[in-house]
Amino acid sequence: MSAERQPIGVIGTGYVGLVTAAGFAQLGSDVFCIDIDADKIARLKAGEIPIYEPGLAEMVAANSARMHFSTKIGDALARARLLFVAVGTPPTYSGDADLSAVYAVVEAIPAGSARGGEQGHALVMKSTVPAGTGASIKRVLAEQGKHGLCYVSCPEFLKEGSAVKDFMSPDRVVIGDDGDWAGDAVVELYAPLDAPLVHTDIASAEMVKLASNASLATKISFINEIANVCEETGADVVEVAKGMGLDDRIGHKFLQAGIGFGGSCFPKDVNALKQLAGNSGYHFQLLNAVIEVNELQKRRVISKLLKHLGSLVGVKVCLLGLAFKPNTDDMRDASSLVLSARLQADGAHVRVYDPVAEREARSLIRGVHFATDALDAAQGADAVVLVTEWREFLELDWAQVAARMSGKLVLDGRNALDAHAVAAAGLTYEGIGRGSLTSLSG
Ligand code: UDX
Repeated sequence: MSAERQPIGVIGTGYVGLVTAAGFAQLGSDVFCIDIDADKIARLKAGEIPIYEPGLAEMVAANSARMHFSTKIGDALARARLLFVAVGTPPTYSGDADLSAVYAVVEAIPAGSARGGEQGHALVMKSTVPAGTGASIKRVLAEQGKHGLCYVSCPEFLKEGSAVKDFMSPDRVVIGDDGDWAGDAVVELYAPLDAPLVHTDIASAEMVKLASNASLATKISFINEIANVCEETGADVVEVAKGMGLDDRIGHKFLQAGIGFGGSCFPKDVNALKQLAGNSGYHFQLLNAVIEVNELQKRRVISKLLKHLGSLVGVKVCLLGLAFKPNTDDMRDASSLVLSARLQADGAHVRVYDPVAEREARSLIRGVHFATDALDAAQGADAVVLVTEWREFLELDWAQVAARMSGKLVLDGRNALDAHAVAAAGLTYEGIGRGSLTSLSG
């Protein structure tokens, strides 16, 4: 059997699991996808994709003959040696990662059914876990008599909205192992992608993931603070970021100022790394600031609205976009959650619209009016706030928006709109960290 076509198991069919499964199926592997959620497995068997991720449905459909769905881990153990673990590791109240789903997988492997040694099985950890988890899991496996199972750390760097593309052309593949057969088997599995490889020990691989996300989150909080200073000094953060990004050592990416980062990874991983450091007696000061800056940034729209409108009592505010970023229906730690709650607490009436995330949002955001489209959301609004930079909002006809609004204020929470187009429609534009907009409307 050629290495890149070895069958694999993928446990957990969320974002990471499903994209990983479809990606390896595309590369030629038979993939046994396991999930304890029987309803989800039934939907997947019927060809239904439970999440919105561009290109994923097509990839699953194109490889349906190689993708097998089941609720029984035994189905994967019987056919595959490498079992990719892609279950959730949400934060707990203490800030540690909740590893109960990971340990449930370990528990679910029946003693005797998994083979150890050269011809045996290996757990390949895709879920983000604290450094040291690999060693703990190996200890538990041994205690439970599941001897010889190997462990590999293979962190995932997929971005929601471009996860399929990220899987097929990764910036790098990171594989951490104990120097046994399993690490080499994972290296071979990824070989067709021809990506730069970091083949290292387990604890270092685990740390690469946490440190990468913390670094990107730090970059965002940094540019957000620069944006806030720009507002005080009359500079335009978009110009500043352009100038900074041309320095090769800094680069343009993740220098887009806005109303804060959200999503399934950054908030969780920054907290997890801070907590991991704290548990070992190290106070990670920088990450405390990154988190605090982000929380304040989410509320920045409120102070801008107050500056322009005086009070929010009875004011009608339209939020364009709810998802934590465009091209996803993911609402986890989205800035819209904080914003909609704060606005209502201050007495505003809130109308919202998101092209994809409405279903997810309805269970999380109460008391707002869900509009049918952007223009409907702008109906009667004193202020329109761009929360998520979906393409359709960037292409809005601002004269039509202006005709629906009762006020004139447009707050661009992502610095993504064409300020001149907004101002040309007679509206007042204000972004994050940008100059006074009276001059733009002149
Ligand atoms: C992130 C990592 O990029 C990915 O490698 C990891 O595997 C999972 O976490 P994701 O959460 O999908 O991916 O989104 P990303 O595109 O990184 O954006 C995260 C958040 O940062 C979004 O809320 C986005 O709006 C915000 N962001 C991003 C900014 O505010 N400014 C920027 O310049 C970039």
